[in-house]
Amino acid sequence: MDQTPPYSLRTPRLLLREFTPADEDDVHVYASDDATVRYMDWGPNTREQTRIFLGEEIERASVSPRVHVGLAVQHLETGTVIGSIRLGLWPHRNADIGYSYGSAWWRQGYGYEAAHAITAHAFDALGVHRLWATCDTRNAGSYAIMEKLGMRREGTLRRNQPARDGGWRDTHVYGLLAQEWASRADAA
Ligand SMILES: CC(C)(COP(=O)(O)OP(=O)(O)OC[C@H]1O[C@@H](n2cnc3c(N)ncnc32)[C@H](O)[C@@H]1OP(=O)(O)O)[C@@H](O)C(=O)NCCC(=O)NCCS
Repeated sequence: MDQTPPYSLRTPRLLLREFTPADEDDVHVYASDDATVRYMDWGPNTREQTRIFLGEEIERASVSPRVHVGLAVQHLETGTVIGSIRLGLWPHRNADIGYSYGSAWWRQGYGYEAAHAITAHAFDALGVHRLWATCDTRNAGSYAIMEKLGMRREGTLRRNQPARDGGWRDTHVYGLLAQEWASRADAA
């Protein structure tokens, strides 16, 4: 059977690696953080929900072929798991990314650092053709990362998701093609 080796992607300050059951305390810090989940369709988690999430991530890591790559983002200096990043692998070499971090770690470049590493992996190692991501139109931090990666806003879905405070929310869709990634100055 086709076996995917465990993921381990290193950046100057971070290690993107597989989750382990020992990550539960750190994961619960960001998964129960009201600010972190503000624009998400999950959370804030109870302890039990965090445990279930972690179990699902560990389970998905053994699915072959690997279609869901959910990784812990570990801060190298302190060893803390500060958040998570996800790469979804779809037919026709399409892929999508998503990420979330505890609010104590925001605005220090970690979100971009991790997103850049997984984007490089998707295009350069996995041969992805198109990478896409979505976010709540109010989530300026999230689309700032997408735009810094070189993603282009392809459109806005109107009122496609229930809003946390009732009613509906709009969603931006961003995309980046392999040839656009390759033509970036900092591409590998
Ligand atoms: C969105 C999120 C991932 C950003 O992570 P981060 O580590 O703070 O981002 P970085 O520090 O790497 O910043 C990357 C760029 O975004 C900008 N940015 C970050 N947060 C911002 C905000 N709230 N508003 C505007 N710009 C923002 C930074 O200034 C930086 O741009 P620059 O390099 O040109 O100055 C983080 O706020 C988060 O985890 N939020 C909660 C979960 C979430 O919403 N995830 C996305 C779901 S779609």
